[in-house]
Amino acid sequence: MLTSEQVNKLEEICKRHNKAQSAVIPVLQDVQELFGYVPEDAVNFVADSMGMPRSHFFGVATFYAQFHFKPRGKNIITACSGTACHVKGSGRLIDNLARELGIPEGEETSRDRQFTLEKVNCVGACSIAPVIIINKEVHGKMSSDKLMKEIKKLRPE
Ligand code: FES
Repeated sequence: MLTSEQVNKLEEICKRHNKAQSAVIPVLQDVQELFGYVPEDAVNFVADSMGMPRSHFFGVATFYAQFHFKPRGKNIITACSGTACHVKGSGRLIDNLARELGIPEGEETSRDRQFTLEKVNCVGACSIAPVIIINKEVHGKMSSDKLMKEIKKLRPE
């Protein structure tokens, strides 16, 4: 359910892009910027407002990895689970990290929305495996101790 303030902001987004058919990606980017993810209600609203099929918006949003349908954490941690990182113990690092961050089984984001932990296959830095990217900063040769120190810096006081 959208609030009236959210509706106003979504209307501004549609207006800003002149309700142009070619603006689906920028509109979705603005929606994600506004909410931190792409809520279904918001997609339905902008599609209807721009007079375009909702399925078109959902088709585009599901095609591109940059769009997320669930709320994400304040801090984004990307853990590489590619072969080189796996060999260097990324599996245990990731399991311990998920436990430390309180991320429920089968989920990516902690209940307090402070952290999202996502796994990817090879970030192209195998020589410094295992690799963890914390808020876009690459950390190589990661150990459990190093990782916990980095996480501690990000926890709210
Ligand atoms: S497998 Fe992790 S960086 Fe290549």
